Amino acid sequence: MNNSAKIVLIGMPGSGKSTLGKAVARQLDFDFYDLDEEIVKEEGKSIPDIFMDEGEGYFRRLETKMIEKFLNRDSSFLLSTGGGAPCFNENMELINQRGISVFLNVSIEQLLLRLTENEADKRPMFRGMDTSAIRLKLQDLLADREMYYEQAKIMLSGDDISTEHLISELMSFFR
Ligand code: S3P
Repeated sequence: MNNSAKIVLIGMPGSGKSTLGKAVARQLDFDFYDLDEEIVKEEGKSIPDIFMDEGEGYFRRLETKMIEKFLNRDSSFLLSTGGGAPCFNENMELINQRGISVFLNVSIEQLLLRLTENEADKRPMFRGMDTSAIRLKLQDLLADREMYYEQAKIMLSGDDISTEHLISELMSFFR
């Protein structure tokens, strides 16, 4: 029996999973991991290059492999995932069996603001798109993904989710 807490942040690109995750992990003294960064390390390639050279299917299989690897650990950690990670290959079931999933529910307008300010080009899904194309893409993605995100054990909504808010939700979850 182990009492480790495996906190898994999920949500759309631009929802602040990595930024918030790092800050909360620091405060809780948990190890922090970013699934995309782990994939980049393992493959020795950027995410856009993996998509381009190997295709999305290959990337999704890597995500599943990495999620399994993390959830099999005995230690506590906070893992920030890529936006699509919970939506493929039974990943959401696995996350919920072994971890505490937290959905950061941010409005499309806020996602758009962050993605246009914040290098949408690094994300293969939005490469070369203008603002209105990104908005449409975000709406489509969210429509497909909501059913997975909504299975999260904790949902935080708002355009400015603070570390304190996330920590207090986690504390009440454990209480
Ligand atoms: C993706 C989101 C990205 C990254 C990949 C695919 C997605 O992560 O995993 O580009 O399908 O939404 P972020 O959510 O950190 O942008």
